[in-house]
Amino acid sequence: MTQMKKSTQGTATATVPSNIALLKYWGKSDENHQIPANDSLSMTLKNAVTTTSATVLPNAMGDRFELNGEERDLHAPANSKILKHLSVLREHLHGLETPYLSIESQNHFPTGCGIASSASGFGALTLAAVGAWTQAHSIEELAQHGLSLQRLAHLARLGSGSAGRSFWGGYVHWEKVDEACSLSPMFSADYWPLADIIMIISKEEKKISSSAGHRSAWTSPLFRPRLSGIPAKLNALKLFIRDRQFTALGALIEQEALDMHAVMLSSTPPAKYIDEQTGELLAWVREQRQLGKLPAYFTLDAGPNIHLICEVQNAAAVTAYLAKHLPHVTLLADETGTGPTLHWESETFDQNNSHQNTRGEP
Ligand code: DP6
Repeated sequence: MTQMKKSTQGTATATVPSNIALLKYWGKSDENHQIPANDSLSMTLKNAVTTTSATVLPNAMGDRFELNGEERDLHAPANSKILKHLSVLREHLHGLETPYLSIESQNHFPTGCGIASSASGFGALTLAAVGAWTQAHSIEELAQHGLSLQRLAHLARLGSGSAGRSFWGGYVHWEKVDEACSLSPMFSADYWPLADIIMIISKEEKKISSSAGHRSAWTSPLFRPRLSGIPAKLNALKLFIRDRQFTALGALIEQEALDMHAVMLSSTPPAKYIDEQTGELLAWVREQRQLGKLPAYFTLDAGPNIHLICEVQNAAAVTAYLAKHLPHVTLLADETGTGPTLHWESETFDQNNSHQNTRGEP
């Protein structure tokens, strides 16, 4: 029987979901360490995910990166956040060998549809890179290397703040604690699954990056009053999720999204992410709900697309109503998801130099 492994190489593949904040992260208290100005609470999504594979390049002169099948120059300004994140990861993982990587990333939602990809993107980049460097076969095995989900989430947050909340399913709390922060799951996905029907209003890239928006938040006269109201909103939100009070949750998330956009619009320079069409649709959603025809509540991120949150048993009816009355709007159906996965596929060379692929745990 041929045995004797000579070398094991392989590819780590991470799938990390996006998340939609119900209580929003807007403004940073320490930009260098990515500490938010306030607590936030999000729902992890199921379908809007990024899958990233990373393979060690033994003799390379640098990392390579492919997004949705296209080679990207990591030294181009548009990709500087990715290059910087890889160097931040290496800096934080000293003691671990961190050779150059070949990275291939795929967003599983329509490209350029305006859906924020930074949470799932930086989450998957972090998990895949760490997976390739450790050759771990699963998230559980990473924990044995001292890389718990907590630690991975904090590493991902350094690339994009909201990415830290994508490391658990269900509802996740990012808490500001003095001059630091902590991340923890609060309720699991099956505790209270909700639907998120995303209305695509614009496919354009946003003109103001969220990083620039976070910075200008402090100039808004509405920002400090917003911060002082966050603890009460957080407590109410936790209770509404705990008691599955949909109507109360809905009213709160609408108020919260509008509150964040009021800060954005009153900042200097203003961060204007919503246009007239979004405004009209928000009013339409409220009107239809009051008429008893649309049991759904909206929330918005740093962009014009509307996330309509509803109970899963109403998702099909809400989608059908939207499709009938707003045929020009593209809809994406999503719901509460269970969090990230990691697997390992090895190429094992035997004595005869023939090789076989072995799939790690899914
Ligand atoms: C409006 O996480 O994209 O979506 O940390 O600068 O990368 P950076 O910002 P990012 O901010 C997202 C803000 C938000 C609200 C939220 O997700 O909480």
